[in-house]
Amino acid sequence: MLHRSTPIPVKKRDEIESMRKACKVAATILRRLEAMVEPGVTTYDLDQASKSMMDEYGAVSACFNYRVGSRVYPAYSCISVNEEVVHGIGNMSKLLKDGDIVTLDVNIVLDGWVGDNARTVAVGSLKPEVQTLVETTESALMVGIKQATPGNRVGDVSASIQRFVEKAGYNVVRDFVGHGVGRSMHEEPQIPNFGRRGTGPKLGVGMTLAIEPMVNMGSPEVDILSDGWTAVSRDRLPTAHFEHTVLLVPGGAEILTTP
Ligand code: MF3
Ligand code: CO
Repeated sequence: MLHRSTPIPVKKRDEIESMRKACKVAATILRRLEAMVEPGVTTYDLDQASKSMMDEYGAVSACFNYRVGSRVYPAYSCISVNEEVVHGIGNMSKLLKDGDIVTLDVNIVLDGWVGDNARTVAVGSLKPEVQTLVETTESALMVGIKQATPGNRVGDVSASIQRFVEKAGYNVVRDFVGHGVGRSMHEEPQIPNFGRRGTGPKLGVGMTLAIEPMVNMGSPEVDILSDGWTAVSRDRLPTAHFEHTVLLVPGGAEILTTP
């Protein structure tokens, strides 16, 4: 693409302060949800707990009522288990069990600003190969964040994540991407987890970005379940997802989604 349809928003000092607050709340809720994860808890319990915590902090869900065409997202957070990649909907009959992995994706609006973060959490003890998948995905996020520096291009972030993941023998998902984040959950630019170094929009100080590798143990293909939202790996093998909202500062990126 030669031209972007809309420019990448650059946040002013006071806007950055608001982003910091929103991201801190998103990260705090994520950490508190993580502490609830144990065998027997349902994904509905986790979703409802995320909603009460949002109320407690004066925040609202950024995904509840989120529309894509005629589809409306019906839950407060995205809770995705095992082969579910993203956008899992809390379900009372879905009990977590020992050896599962669950991805908690918490995206909130506080005073008009969005904070977005996700992590894949172990339920009890994992098979070593699943544990490695989760660790690799978290490291892939850190690798991408390292490349998210003013003067670099989006493709530098994308390529670094893809290379790291594929070297480990896994695949990045193509159907969902990271994104700019601010007044709305999805702003310019798109941040794929695959691509070529030196390509794409140039990054600059004051941009706020959600970087979010989604890594499949097997093939990169995904299917969407009949609920219209839940994305699962086509081969139904496990998949992991980590996400931070970061602020670009001179010389690098500062992670805003810390509790
Ligand atoms: N962190 C996810 C994203 O950036 C949240 C999606 S919410 C949904 O796309 F409403 F689209 F489900
Ligand atoms: Co996101």
